[in-house]
Amino acid sequence: MDYYLIKGGRKLKGEVKISGAKNAALPIIVASLLADGETVLSNVPDLKDIRTIIKVIEYLGAETDFDAGKNTLKIKVKNIKNGEMPYDLVKTMRASVYVMGPLLARLGEADVSLPGGCAIGERPVDIHLSGFEAMGAVIELEHGNIKARAKKMKPCEFTMRQVSVGATANLIMGAVLTSGKTVFENCAMEPDIVDLGEFLIKMGADIKGLGTERIVIEGVKKLNPVEYSIMPDRIEAGTFILAGAITRGEVKIKSCIPEHIKSLTDILEESGFEISTGKNWVEIKDGKKVTGFLTKTLPYPGFPTDLQAPLMSLATTIPGISVIIETIFENRFTHAAELRRMGANITIEGNSAITKGVKKLSSAPVMMSDLRAGAALVVAALAAEGETEIRRIYHSDRGYEKLTEKLSALGADIKRVEGGTF
Ligand code: EPZ
Repeated sequence: MDYYLIKGGRKLKGEVKISGAKNAALPIIVASLLADGETVLSNVPDLKDIRTIIKVIEYLGAETDFDAGKNTLKIKVKNIKNGEMPYDLVKTMRASVYVMGPLLARLGEADVSLPGGCAIGERPVDIHLSGFEAMGAVIELEHGNIKARAKKMKPCEFTMRQVSVGATANLIMGAVLTSGKTVFENCAMEPDIVDLGEFLIKMGADIKGLGTERIVIEGVKKLNPVEYSIMPDRIEAGTFILAGAITRGEVKIKSCIPEHIKSLTDILEESGFEISTGKNWVEIKDGKKVTGFLTKTLPYPGFPTDLQAPLMSLATTIPGISVIIETIFENRFTHAAELRRMGANITIEGNSAITKGVKKLSSAPVMMSDLRAGAALVVAALAAEGETEIRRIYHSDRGYEKLTEKLSALGADIKRVEGGTF
């Protein structure tokens, strides 16, 4: 398996262009099943998860043509079919559960494997399922599969018991073709949901309240295929800001939406870093004196759980105490043990990570346990003394496009080595 070798200690300097957002592209690709004809998506990042979701929609009958070099994906939909997807396809990516919305909306039936737990927590899908039940679906669980049937999807008023990005996306897709008025309460307000909603509106859907807790959908008879450009990835943008911060460099993040990462830049500014922003860029520079911070992960517009791990890496190098509380997932601190191997001083107490800044991190062989834990290790290695070897980098291939190229262009000493034996 490939691994990274990173020689730390170089200040990153320069500009980096952010790719399209993985977590917006995934539901948008699936939502293209809602219209017959050819949908053309641009700014689609070339990532392992994107290639997996493409296989998933192909399995359901779509024809696709992904030009990875141009980041353009053409999706032709004619006769979609329901069908139990191979578990191998589904188990690698929880977002496969997104096909329930479009399949129920168009065919009145959906068979999907029940996603299992994963490295960051149990991650049940009960909110998706109770939302579809409220819309008239009858759901059975058999041999690890979800079997959903709806003679006719009906409009409803449904309050999600907890804010869920995935359930909000899935239920919106399920409701856009349901005649009548459907109201969802306690919705996720993440930009990924807004991007999905805007794509659906362009296709002809009638959706109000995107980016708020209450989304109201008037069902339409038919949606049309469109051309659409995926929004920039706020988590990738945040990761590069943190890479700039930990090396005390000067990095300008281009093609991003500064508002989407304000929760992060606010923390960094308070900590003492210099942040400047323009219409579609953010720049970070080292401050005169940086100090520890306190934050907790929250649904948008709060600080995102997907940046918690790389923010912790930064905290390990900031003088004084920092505290990060994780409120979204129950098991998202696996990177802490790996960071300790690099000399970090981190204490975990329940869902809080208490970090005492050290003078220098030092290199060690470490392992990624999930995508963002992986990002944390890369960020830490950029500042560590010596050469860090990072294994299981297939995790970062799921969510960071051209990571080595982008970091090298900023002056990092990073190599991807092919074919290690572990
Ligand atoms: C999305 O996952 C993202 N994935 C995650 O990004 C992200 O960490 C997460 O939202 C939170 O922002 C995609 O968009 C593909 P949730 P999702 O439903 O939709 C609980 C990354 O690294 N819950 O908002 O699965 C759940 O267990 C990934 O890019 C239920 O209890 O997250 C969690 O504690 C990882 N029942 C909380 O809600 C449900 O039916 C929020 O989960 C659904 C969720």
